Amino acid sequence: MDPKKASGKLQTDSNGRLRHFLTIEGLKSDLLTEILDTAESFSSVAEQAIKKVPLLRGVTVANLFFEASTRTRTTFEVAAKRLSADVLNLNINTSATSKGESLLDTLRNLEAMNCDMFVVRHNNSGAAHFIAQHVAPHLRIINAGDGRHAHPTQAMLDMFTIRRHKKEFNNLRIAIVGDVMHSRVARSQIHALSTLGAAEIRVVAPKTLLPRDVQKLGVHVYHDLCEGIKDVDVIIMLRLQRERMTSAFLPSEHEYFHLYGLTEEKLQFAKPDVMVMHPGPINRGVEMDSKVADGTHSVILEQVTNGIAVRMAIMAMIMGNRHGQEHAS
Ligand code: NCD
Repeated sequence: MDPKKASGKLQTDSNGRLRHFLTIEGLKSDLLTEILDTAESFSSVAEQAIKKVPLLRGVTVANLFFEASTRTRTTFEVAAKRLSADVLNLNINTSATSKGESLLDTLRNLEAMNCDMFVVRHNNSGAAHFIAQHVAPHLRIINAGDGRHAHPTQAMLDMFTIRRHKKEFNNLRIAIVGDVMHSRVARSQIHALSTLGAAEIRVVAPKTLLPRDVQKLGVHVYHDLCEGIKDVDVIIMLRLQRERMTSAFLPSEHEYFHLYGLTEEKLQFAKPDVMVMHPGPINRGVEMDSKVADGTHSVILEQVTNGIAVRMAIMAMIMGNRHGQEHAS
């Protein structure tokens, strides 16, 4: 199924409010800003003595991860628990799908347990859309990464982190560096940045790691790292997604680091107050030098922290809309 065609009406209700969160594509700038503002209001929950608000009390969230994940799964779990929801973590490798049960049968069983929300990660593009189309109408779906297609909560936590440091998007020049071809993160970030009005979005990669029609996304293409990061405000490094590569895309990791790895010397080409980001997991010495990953420009661990508030906001907005109420602020 083409997730693009399916997303249109599926994600929002007739009032334009969020029902599922499957992709950034097609969402309006106001809605993205509402997510960021709501997340801002939730970020203080982490500083309270009791790190909980009762907003999703009685709601059951099932984490359905068909693909490995540490950060995303655990931050979804922490987010749901801070909203007082009950959380089920399904280890799909040991669950019934590995015994031959179909995905839809697994979903029916979770529905029968009165779950309210599924957070889904799957290696097939379109999996979260497929599930959203086939579950009972009261269920809510959040896409936690589907194949190479989309990773919308990662993009929103990145937008939140950028906004915290830079305030506005409309004067920002941003470079996304590395394996754009296999990256669901890059695709979602490009949609989010252009919807929020970023001044210039660049992608920097060897030809073999860029999708053929990448310019159609409204980005400027660079093949040289120093040129591509010249005078940028934000650098987003991507992981080399070896598990998605079907043939030899690169000569060697050593060669890749030499050409595209971010080092302190190369960082001098960017603006003096440049932010360095990475969705994790980092391959140190492949995408970037440890001195940059742990250096003063890096906001990589802030991204992880911000992921909790942003996921809380998305869950609360979706469930608030289900009950016809406004979310807390
Ligand atoms: C990303 C993913 O899984 O798509 N990571 C993440 O969610 N933190 C990026 C990656 O794996 O490279």
